[in-house]
Amino acid sequence: MSRETAPLEWLDELRESHGVAWDESTSTWYVTRYDDVYALLSDPRLGAQVETWCPPGLTEAQRETYWRVTEFVDLWPVFSDPPRHTGMRRLLLPLFTPAAVGGVIAATKESVAATNPGTPGDRVFESVVRPALASGLARLIDEPPETLAELGDCATRILAVGPSETYDPSVGLDAANALDELTGHVARRCEAGRGALASALRDAMAEGSLDLRDATAVYAQLVSGALEPAATAVARLLEALTGPEGEAVELAADVDSAVDEALRLATPFHLAMRRGLTDFTLHGHSVKAEARVALVLVAANRDPRRFADPLAFRTDRADARHVVFGRGRHACLGAALTRHVMRELVVELAARGVLEDLPPLSAVWNVDFGGRFVQDMVARQRV
Ligand code: HEM
Repeated sequence: MSRETAPLEWLDELRESHGVAWDESTSTWYVTRYDDVYALLSDPRLGAQVETWCPPGLTEAQRETYWRVTEFVDLWPVFSDPPRHTGMRRLLLPLFTPAAVGGVIAATKESVAATNPGTPGDRVFESVVRPALASGLARLIDEPPETLAELGDCATRILAVGPSETYDPSVGLDAANALDELTGHVARRCEAGRGALASALRDAMAEGSLDLRDATAVYAQLVSGALEPAATAVARLLEALTGPEGEAVELAADVDSAVDEALRLATPFHLAMRRGLTDFTLHGHSVKAEARVALVLVAANRDPRRFADPLAFRTDRADARHVVFGRGRHACLGAALTRHVMRELVVELAARGVLEDLPPLSAVWNVDFGGRFVQDMVARQRV
């Protein structure tokens, strides 16, 4: 079993054998047990800005492109430390008002209502659910759904630069082009200043607390970190509700616990990356300042010390507090919104009779070391 071929099993085994372990090949400490991950997510001895270094053997132009893209990714709120991070968080918080969340839910439901009621069950995810999520999240940032998809694609191309160990200069070049496209879009949007996000960014740039690169970083985070993980969690929920796992689920009574159990089992982002801000000791291990520390959310969410029968979908867990959204300074700003959207989406599908007509569905997952994302949902083969 290896990190590459079976990442979840590798991480589960690490949790059971060590809990905290140093991995030479990635120069990273891995923390995998729930209690440790939970505590360290809000530990001031860890920062979010992880050190990066330039891969060897690049030409000067390639090095320049590498640093341009990498330094841009470092500006995203989730990879920033105070005081920059505090300012970005303050700017983003007002986006998630109850009225804004209400607008997202309304757009999600309108999208479901506008789809063809005769959509075959195994196409419902791609043709109804995904567009509904995109419409809702696009409403939050005042973009049309198709633009959200294009911007999300730009962010994906930027993130494709990946870790410096595996850097590919042609991917770096494409990332730099995507960064130009995204920056151009954000500049135009901020100039027009339409909608809560664009006007907040425009004001912050006018008063000098953010520049265009910062504003683009905020945008990049929102367009890349919202839609795909939400789609992944909804796919896990539909998998459960249409299959044997959902037989004991009473939607009216259990919808909130079903949503949280789907989130826990999906855990779309496997890792929260951190950097030691000071030397400290963790279970007898000496973690040095500047060391990379991976808080393994997915291993924590599957920790049998915390969740009895951890791989089972159960809506009767007494205390199901998972770490799928992180916690502490970088706790996901979209957590409450995501739960709300997931709940309202399945309730809407049930109210329209779509849910009960669905065949048992299986998600086609794309799982790697860093995360789980859904490619599609297909009718489950009966055995
Ligand atoms: C199932 C869906 C989602 C999952 C699993 C998820 C997960 C996460 C996690 C784990 C973090 C913290 C990472 C860390 O501590 O290093 C985070 C941060 C963040 N998330 Fe989410 N997220 C989801 C949906 C959303 C949505 C819908 C939005 C916005 C519309 C959003 C916006 C953010 C932002 C802005 C941050 C950065 C917070 C900060 O650094 O202060 N997320 N998310």
